[in-house]
Amino acid sequence: MHQLSGSNPPSRRELIQAGAAAAALTAGAPLASAAPRGRRGVLKIGLVGCGGRGTGAAKNALAADPEVELVALGDTFADHAENSLKTLTSMASSDDSETQALGKRVVVPPENVFVGFDAYKQVIDACDVVLLATTPHFRPLHVAYAVEKGKHMFVEKPIATDAPGVRSVIESCKQAKAKGLSVVSGLCYRYSSATRETLQRVHDGAIGDIVALECTYNTGGLWHRGRKPEWSEMEYQVRNWLYFTWASGDHITEQHIHSLDKIAWAMQDEYPVAATASGGRVQRTDPKYGNVYDHFNTVYEWANGVKCFSSCRQWNGAKSNVSDFVHGTKGQASLQAHKITGADKWRWRKKEGEVDDMYQNEHDALFASIRSGEPINNGEYMCNSTLMAILARMAAYTGQRITWDQALNSQEDLSPPAYEWSDLETRPVAVPGVRKFV
Ligand SMILES: NC(=O)c1ccc[n+]([C@@H]2O[C@H](COP(=O)([O-])OP(=O)(O)OC[C@H]3O[C@@H](n4cnc5c(N)ncnc54)[C@H](O)[C@@H]3O)[C@@H](O)[C@H]2O)c1
Repeated sequence: MHQLSGSNPPSRRELIQAGAAAAALTAGAPLASAAPRGRRGVLKIGLVGCGGRGTGAAKNALAADPEVELVALGDTFADHAENSLKTLTSMASSDDSETQALGKRVVVPPENVFVGFDAYKQVIDACDVVLLATTPHFRPLHVAYAVEKGKHMFVEKPIATDAPGVRSVIESCKQAKAKGLSVVSGLCYRYSSATRETLQRVHDGAIGDIVALECTYNTGGLWHRGRKPEWSEMEYQVRNWLYFTWASGDHITEQHIHSLDKIAWAMQDEYPVAATASGGRVQRTDPKYGNVYDHFNTVYEWANGVKCFSSCRQWNGAKSNVSDFVHGTKGQASLQAHKITGADKWRWRKKEGEVDDMYQNEHDALFASIRSGEPINNGEYMCNSTLMAILARMAAYTGQRITWDQALNSQEDLSPPAYEWSDLETRPVAVPGVRKFV
């Protein structure tokens, strides 16, 4: 599959020029064989999952290409879809002319606001490019339908919460590649110039051979959206999805995946062969927090003996630390500080006037790829990095050393019995040594 190289990504201006050049070439091309495969004219986008990230992704998509129009929105909940649409249309009355221009391209008629578990189908049918930003559990279903309908897509991380979901997305991404569709992942650090340049140096030997890695995502707790008496248990869980493993994958999959993806990237996209982990919940013990843990500590093992020591926790009042380090025979790279120490000292510095917004860069790349007819397919790393997180969760929940192959072939399907607003049993919090690997 196409993989992003570690080299500097094209600048925003270069990407836009690439799209414009492809369009200009089509306009002047006398021979069909000389015509590029890229798309010209208005690209209709649709958003599935109208929460904070989805709304942000829609803005990024609108800013990426002057001929993008947002035409459809879908969410399980009408209030979420309406709030998102309000935020996006309100850009049209901004004092800032650039923001105003984005708002004018939000052209969603009321009949294109879709609500419910099937909303994704109607949104995907109505657009050329879909932004998939729901609660992670639903991603495999949405990716499969988008590929079936031949749509390009932006796919937020993580791409699944269990191994059957990962396998489904692996298959969908293969089909997307065969159909020439772009699949750009929300693992946004891959689109950060600063991180790319740091890792390029690591890959070029600046710290020598890698001997160990460490990554940490220690933060406070996240939001909780309460409970209303009229909500069914399913509605409560979908609204408070962070706290239910079936929905979020637990925070190691939902949040720490960013760090794990950087570690895999440092290892040149070679993934660990096994993991041993421990974890549990010491702060979030109230039943309102469902069945997720609030901390994990993992040791990942690679085939060549290298290990990564990984820690993530969501504890209020405790020290926060988000950092990743690669230790080599000649020095050390700090991926968050974009710095190399040791024999080949180096620090990334922003060039004059440079804006390195990874959230924007990923959308610039997506739309430039559609314009140029050169699809990007981030499927391989977005699936593998999701599995890397699930592997550690399986190891922590069971208390066993779990291999990559075991995780990939796991039959544990976390899906609820039905997608309907009804009762839903909450599986007990996993007890290591008692929970069995399936
Ligand atoms: N790349 C990043 O840095 C980054 C940052 C934040 C969130 N995210 C990811 O983006 C996704 C969304 O996160 P968020 O913070 O916006 O959460 P959110 O709860 O604000 O938004 C999720 C939205 O999806 C809707 N939804 C749930 N199930 C649905 C379904 N079956 N069909 C349609 N809509 C559905 C919810 O009602 C909600 O409006 C998550 O996967 C999260 O991990 C990525």
